Amino acid sequence: MTTKVEAKPATARRSGPLKGTIRIPGDKSISHRSLMFGGLAAGETRITGLLEGDDILATGRAMQAMGAVMRKHDDVWIIDGVGNGCLLEPEAPLDFGNAGTGVRLTMGLVGTYGFSATFTGDASLRSRPMGRVLDPLRLMGAQVQAEEGDRLPVTMRGPRIARPITYRVPMASAQVKSAVLLAGLNAPGVTTVVEPVMTRDHTEKMLAGFGAELQVDTAPDGVRTISLHGQGALRGQVIDVPGDPSSTAFPLVSALLVPGSDVTIENVLMNPTRTGLLTTLLEMGADIEIIDPRQAGGEDVADLRVKASDLRGVRVPAERAPSMIDEYPVLAIAAAFAEGRTVMEGVEELRVKESDRLAAVAAGLKLNGVECEEGPDWLTVDGVPGGKGLGASASGPAVATHLDHRIAMAFTVMGFASERPVTIDDSTMIATSFPEYMDLMTGLGAVIESVDRAA
Ligand code: S3P
Repeated sequence: MTTKVEAKPATARRSGPLKGTIRIPGDKSISHRSLMFGGLAAGETRITGLLEGDDILATGRAMQAMGAVMRKHDDVWIIDGVGNGCLLEPEAPLDFGNAGTGVRLTMGLVGTYGFSATFTGDASLRSRPMGRVLDPLRLMGAQVQAEEGDRLPVTMRGPRIARPITYRVPMASAQVKSAVLLAGLNAPGVTTVVEPVMTRDHTEKMLAGFGAELQVDTAPDGVRTISLHGQGALRGQVIDVPGDPSSTAFPLVSALLVPGSDVTIENVLMNPTRTGLLTTLLEMGADIEIIDPRQAGGEDVADLRVKASDLRGVRVPAERAPSMIDEYPVLAIAAAFAEGRTVMEGVEELRVKESDRLAAVAAGLKLNGVECEEGPDWLTVDGVPGGKGLGASASGPAVATHLDHRIAMAFTVMGFASERPVTIDDSTMIATSFPEYMDLMTGLGAVIESVDRAA
């Protein structure tokens, strides 16, 4: 079981202009998949730009426990994969720490193997619903023992011969889509996923790159049907992971909010299934220049030059949610400094992330003087341009981050632009997705310090 790390509170303070050029660590979604698919495919996979966050390292350990061999040489991760259909039964429980993508995709990967595997994680991951991936895996023949409400720890045994299925994903979730497709890799025949609302497409794109026989049809109404022929060969690939747009969001919004800032962020993934925040911020009046848009390793990337901007509130439509699902906490911070009201609709999935992000964001905003209202699947934020009166005293109450890296980072961004400091109760979880965050931000001129609350 995951060992508990001691919480490390931090206080962010109003900062002078943020200036400089930075590179963001590799995309988390692509990094997870690089290790999984590389560990599964026959032969060698070479990865540069891999995110070395705790979430990804947990996925790497799980793949090693099932037979993949991994090493790092200079900046390159080199993986010798087992070959499709040849994963080994893990001898011990697989502990994914805080990583929802790691555990859900790996459950899919091994759900059609005739062996037993146990999955667990930290307190946040153990509170999250796993039924969304266990249900289709049960249809494919997996036997599952889970905690109440299909929570972790889960022990699963796949069937001797899996049943390929056609599955319509009931919620907008790339993790569920991916879990079914990965289970289909070891099932005979064709596994089909019907996706009513498009979510990030890294699994489809990358599996095709690894040699999977896979077809995507998009109907005129946007419904996507993804068909995968199981039990084909996968071959190792060379992958260069682009910068994570979800991590980019934190320095980007910081630069928009701190007066006088001018920051360039290089090599950011611009896959259209991930750019909803950019669209929204541009609508809010953000000064973001998209420089040198280009293709790298089959993905769109670009550099972003961001200057401090006066923002205005907007309505963010529900259909945009999948393309910015991880960015709402920091969008809410941008909204807290915008003129007027920002309305975010159709965001019920935020309730089942690393924390209940609607509740966590609303509580943190209120604690720091922002008026906001939360509904079952919506959030409104009334902004205070200039941040006058926002924040609390450094010795005052801290924002509860609930083991959620994005809640932690979002509220540090608030502190850089608020009149008064903003304190978070724990900064340790930032290492799950963005270990370099503090150093990168202080390098740009942001003021943030760890505080010893016990003292
Ligand atoms: C991810 C999918 C999203 C996202 C998560 C990464 C992925 O989760 O929130 O951070 O890599 O497939 P859902 O599928 O639950 O929306």
